[in-house]
Amino acid sequence: MSMKPKIIALLGSPRINGNTAALLDQAIKGAEDAGCIVEKVVVPHLNFRPCMEIFHCIENETCAMKDDIVPFYEKFKEMDGLIIATPVMTMGIPGALKSFMDRFQVFYMAKYWRQSSFINDSQKKRRKTLLISIGGMNIPNDFDGVKLTVHAFCEIIDSPYWAEVMQNNMDEIKDISTRPEVMEEAYSKGYELGKQLMR
Ligand SMILES: Cc1cc2nc3c(=O)[nH]c(=O)nc-3n(C[C@H](O)[C@H](O)[C@H](O)COP(=O)(O)O)c2cc1C
Repeated sequence: MSMKPKIIALLGSPRINGNTAALLDQAIKGAEDAGCIVEKVVVPHLNFRPCMEIFHCIENETCAMKDDIVPFYEKFKEMDGLIIATPVMTMGIPGALKSFMDRFQVFYMAKYWRQSSFINDSQKKRRKTLLISIGGMNIPNDFDGVKLTVHAFCEIIDSPYWAEVMQNNMDEIKDISTRPEVMEEAYSKGYELGKQLMR
């Protein structure tokens, strides 16, 4: 292959040295070791507003709102793989990451309204999404909200949900590096994602 596969890695936590980031960095290292190029994006540090329902995207291939989201439309058309790493907040994904995803109504309208996805079939077959999520609480269903949203997003952007790394009970665990098996799982899922994209 002449060009290295490209992966976008979204961090949903504002803490660049937090526990979500620690797991994401493991997955990124794995994907890079497998031969991919990874662009990490700290979503809460981007400058953008939530979808304002202008509906410019019903008939146009972009958004009327010109902010930090705009370059991601092209990046999300070109990428081969996606990693989403997020804490649970109020039983779902944090607001900034949710607002980032909502702005992909641009992709939704192309795919479902105009029946003309930006992503072709061979790209879609190849693309894969890895979800990494952690939650503070030790309760059943801690990741249900996260998963519903991420599954929907994967459909909208035609990057199928592929694998996940989950750890709840973080209020007790506190520091994810005390769970080397979870760190290792994040690394190996990142590596496996990278290897599959190299084929
Ligand atoms: C605003 C806010 C809301 C949260 N809501 C939940 C929740 O609903 N369920 C849960 O399990 N943990 C919740 N947490 C705990 C985080 O998921 C947990 O602290 C996580 O480890 C933070 O990851 P980070 O260190 O990478 O930012 C919440 C944390 C914050 C700051």
